[in-house]
Amino acid sequence: MNNSRRKFIQNSLKATVITSLGSSLIHGTEAYATGLSSADEYKSNALQFAQIPLPYANNALEPNIDATTMDIHYNKHHSTYVKNVNEAIAAEKISFSTEKEFFANASKLSAKAKNNGGGSWNHNFFWQVMAPPTGGAPAGKVAEAINGGFGSFDKFKEQFTQAAMGRFGSGWAWLVDDGGKLKIGSTPNQDNPLMDSSELKGTPLLALDVWEHAYYLKYQNKRNDYVANWWNVVNWSEVGKRLG
Ligand SMILES: [Fe+2]
Repeated sequence: MNNSRRKFIQNSLKATVITSLGSSLIHGTEAYATGLSSADEYKSNALQFAQIPLPYANNALEPNIDATTMDIHYNKHHSTYVKNVNEAIAAEKISFSTEKEFFANASKLSAKAKNNGGGSWNHNFFWQVMAPPTGGAPAGKVAEAINGGFGSFDKFKEQFTQAAMGRFGSGWAWLVDDGGKLKIGSTPNQDNPLMDSSELKGTPLLALDVWEHAYYLKYQNKRNDYVANWWNVVNWSEVGKRLG
């Protein structure tokens, strides 16, 4: 096989991996890191995380999520995760070339790289699966998948809410597609179902941030009220895009 043919196949495979993750979730420079033989080579190949632009105004999810919380959450918490993971990637010369590869090797990462990488990716995902209130339940293939997996939308909501309420301390509740089977679960801290170290595995379809920073200003200790109101701002069409 000549070099150009080999390169074409490598690029095609890479494109397949990125497409399977959902192109809207892939940010920053993506390239194959072939080694760390020089500082220049490392810099040119390094994976960088980046914040997506918030898809709506800070006050767009009011009254369910208040503008001040959204502002601090996006501009302080999320941006800090991104800054910190990129610092860790540079300082530790982490050579994974895609986010998928980065998380598949989470168990080998430092706490700083893993936690801040998770925080970067999870929030990019979270912003996208919310939208200004529609008040609607899912329709079409999402409704069919949820009814098929959980019996009814109400039963799904009940189980997802239990996952969100049952997560002690900080973490996330998830709906994932695990090989064609929908599953609900939660992860601690900034772990996500793409991490090899996560008990819950699968392709994320929906996520809910249950860190206190996501709700404390408006809801204080009432996580259950936050979760109940959050259903009003779920972006079901984005969930549908991630459903195979
Ligand atoms: Fe958060």
